[in-house]
Amino acid sequence: MKIGVVAEIKSDEYRVAVTPAGVRELSEHGHEVLIEAGAGEGSAIADADFEAQGARLVDAPAAVFEQAEMILHVKELQAAEIAMLRPGQLLFTYLHLAPDPEQTSGLCGSGATCIAYETVEDARGRLPLLAPMSEIAGKIATQAGAFMLEKPLGGRGILLGGVPGVAAANVMVIGGGVVGMNAAFIAIGMEADVFVFDRSIDRLRELEVAFGGRCSTVYSTTLAVEEMLPRADLVIGAVLVHGARAPYVIKREQLALMRPGAVLVDVAIDQGGCFETSRPTTHHEPTFEVDGIIHYCVANMPGAVPITSTHALTNATLPYAIAIADRGIAGAIEHDPGLRPGVNVAAGKVTHAAVAEGVGMDYVPVEEALGLDRSETANTKAEVS
Ligand SMILES: NC(=O)c1ccc[n+]([C@@H]2O[C@H](COP(=O)([O-])OP(=O)(O)OC[C@H]3O[C@@H](n4cnc5c(N)ncnc54)[C@H](O)[C@@H]3O)[C@@H](O)[C@H]2O)c1
Repeated sequence: MKIGVVAEIKSDEYRVAVTPAGVRELSEHGHEVLIEAGAGEGSAIADADFEAQGARLVDAPAAVFEQAEMILHVKELQAAEIAMLRPGQLLFTYLHLAPDPEQTSGLCGSGATCIAYETVEDARGRLPLLAPMSEIAGKIATQAGAFMLEKPLGGRGILLGGVPGVAAANVMVIGGGVVGMNAAFIAIGMEADVFVFDRSIDRLRELEVAFGGRCSTVYSTTLAVEEMLPRADLVIGAVLVHGARAPYVIKREQLALMRPGAVLVDVAIDQGGCFETSRPTTHHEPTFEVDGIIHYCVANMPGAVPITSTHALTNATLPYAIAIADRGIAGAIEHDPGLRPGVNVAAGKVTHAAVAEGVGMDYVPVEEALGLDRSETANTKAEVS
């Protein structure tokens, strides 16, 4: 298969979808990798490093889109890129479609088969291609939040860890999954007082064990959130319902419960945001203020640390990219049913139930959209999730 990789054009996005190691593996499987010249620069990967492992460099993104049978990407395609997709072409990238009807219509209009990293599942129903970026975003969430709490940046002016004789700050993490756990790890390391809220008691049990009692776990209800908000200095929003638009865990009127200059970091902004007052921001202008509360809502947080993120992402995506290239999407799903919920759009239809609900479009099973024999793709999780 011909596999194409272009430079990311989203604001402040420096990751690239393949590394030289990935080029080598794909080449050894008999595939040809076309890479836009300069695509690796932001991640400190030179063109020559890709070429040395067998990649063919191409000058313009249009030439990559024209020749490649599968596009490997990092963030969602921008409008100019969607316009270059063609029917039957495979796109493998982060999509986050549930809060984005415009992108969804664009992808449907292209006729391409679009597989979202963030909804591919492993055998235990976890999200193996979201996890590495969630680990990074969780760690950034605490360090960014700590920085934004400084007075010159508009924050309350409190040091996360306090000092002897002066209390530490209170960090509230809502959603104790991969992002939340990593955010809490860093906050504990910075010696803040940490409270992790989640709706899954099993998850809270796991966190109690992992943290050895160094943070408090709280079953998340509206009342529990409201009781914590007046004491919270930093609130990190990290909830996720697979594929779906994020639920609001803090409404606008609840901001009035918080202290002026407190900081909200909405990591779930890529799924539409879990605070009612959130809107996506960029690394260049990461924050805005609503009712005296600082909001940090960068939708591609790992993009700021590409040397870490590119390698962490491609370590996870490469086996899937190889499987799809070797077997085609139907064969790859048959081999690994966890890829089935990854297919969000195919042949003009939305093929993930939670995405369809999020964008208000009809859901069509992937087998029907692609004209496959349903017995070949046993997993039906996307229909019931
Ligand atoms: N902004 C970025 O750059 C960036 C980067 C990586 C991940 N993310 C996003 O971060 C979010 C979290 O990702 P994750 O990998 O940690 O997901 P996850 O599935 O590992 O964890 C989500 C947790 O939220 C909990 N939850 C769900 N609804 C809840 C509710 N109403 N109240 C409290 N808890 C609730 C779940 O029980 C689960 O433990 C996702 O939206 C993901 O896309 C953003």
